[in-house]
Amino acid sequence: MNVLILGSGGREHAFAWKLSQSVGLGHLFIAPGNAGTSQHGKNIDLDTGNYPEVKEFVLSEDVGMLVVGPEVPLVDGIHDFFKADPELSKVMVIGPVKAAAMLEGSKDFAKEFMKKYDIPTAAYATFTSDELGKGLEFLKSMKPPYVLKADGLAAGKGVLICSTIEEAEKELIAMLRDAKFGKASQKVVIEEFLKGIEISCFVLTDGKTYKILPSAKDYKRIGEGDTGLNTGGMGSISPVPFAGPEFMQKVEHQIIAPTIRGLIDEGLEYKGFLFFGLINVEGDPYVIEYNVRMGDPEAESVIPRIKSDLLQHFIAVGDGTLAQEHLLTDPRFATAIMLVSGGYPGAYEKGKDIHGINDVEGSIVFHAGTSRDEKTGVISTNGGRVIAVTSFGESMKEALRQSYVNASVIDFEGKYFRKDLGFDLKFL
Ligand code: AMP
Ligand code: GLY
Repeated sequence: MNVLILGSGGREHAFAWKLSQSVGLGHLFIAPGNAGTSQHGKNIDLDTGNYPEVKEFVLSEDVGMLVVGPEVPLVDGIHDFFKADPELSKVMVIGPVKAAAMLEGSKDFAKEFMKKYDIPTAAYATFTSDELGKGLEFLKSMKPPYVLKADGLAAGKGVLICSTIEEAEKELIAMLRDAKFGKASQKVVIEEFLKGIEISCFVLTDGKTYKILPSAKDYKRIGEGDTGLNTGGMGSISPVPFAGPEFMQKVEHQIIAPTIRGLIDEGLEYKGFLFFGLINVEGDPYVIEYNVRMGDPEAESVIPRIKSDLLQHFIAVGDGTLAQEHLLTDPRFATAIMLVSGGYPGAYEKGKDIHGINDVEGSIVFHAGTSRDEKTGVISTNGGRVIAVTSFGESMKEALRQSYVNASVIDFEGKYFRKDLGFDLKFL
């Protein structure tokens, strides 16, 4: 089977790395990919938002499966485009149709869905631009801190946590009246603040049944001790020590199973990854958000822990036979440390030569923002998050130690990484 992966980050490199180990894989294409994905397949310079162009490529290369990495094409309806086209309808698409992708594409839709199916989440109310007055009144009825969420996709920036009522009022006005996040903030969800520790859980589903993948913890802030600005993710650890069988049973019974049942009841076709962003409030899981894809940088620690054949699982997702699959996971810990460009998540420079990748021993190097010069073969930085260094260990400490050794072996001007991953898990 020839496979086309859409995306260019560490998550897509992890997919490419894993799929390239499948005996059933024919040709692997990644659009646009990065310097890492090109080790496992062919990077294709496609305009992935131009579906007729994607179609032409898929037909010309006899692609049988499209794996969609990021959320934007899913929320935009790429799966629907494939389904509706007689020449493409047999191509398996890993990623939900647009109506189901609204679980990520609209926070209000996700909250309504959770309310309807009795899935634990923070109490909330939604307001449109016409309801600014009501929204401001509602804020007064809440206790600080205030959580404001732009309804639509806002590239991970649409959630604001305000410590004072004045700040919350100012932000609500900016979102609803002044379109702070454009169309995405035409509606705003205001919700109760939940205090606890976050965890990312994932399933692969064919829309009927699901397989639970290893859990992971993502480190979103740029600074040590979870301080400073939010980033796309500074690293991940899998499994999460506090997510033992008791907690995961709650996650499955209270969250995963009702979500899949709800999708079926609503007639929402779902084939692909579903990501539950959870918060553990004194031993009970609550949903902070749904994402309709794998996480990044969670994929860089979760995918390597899958021992069974991922392509075979994907084919079963496409065929609707996932129930017959056996997902095998590696019991060891995996840790991914993200090396980022100096200045990120603010302004940063690109084009810095990366040294030492070939000297890495005992870790997997997943590329994120990298590019390779065709002529010279030199690999250089091409984004804020540059490389994830993933290692296994019998303990979290051992895996982290190995990742940190190799995080020092790789070098580029301005390199930065957090040296405290796992700090919040050590004493649990
Ligand atoms: P999201 O974009 O939905 O992932 O939200 C970004 C971050 O905001 C989350 O990772 C949490 O750290 C935080 N957050 C979102 N909703 C809540 C909430 N109800 N209570 C506490 N923290 C929240
Ligand atoms: N790591 C969080 C995300 O992928 O959205």
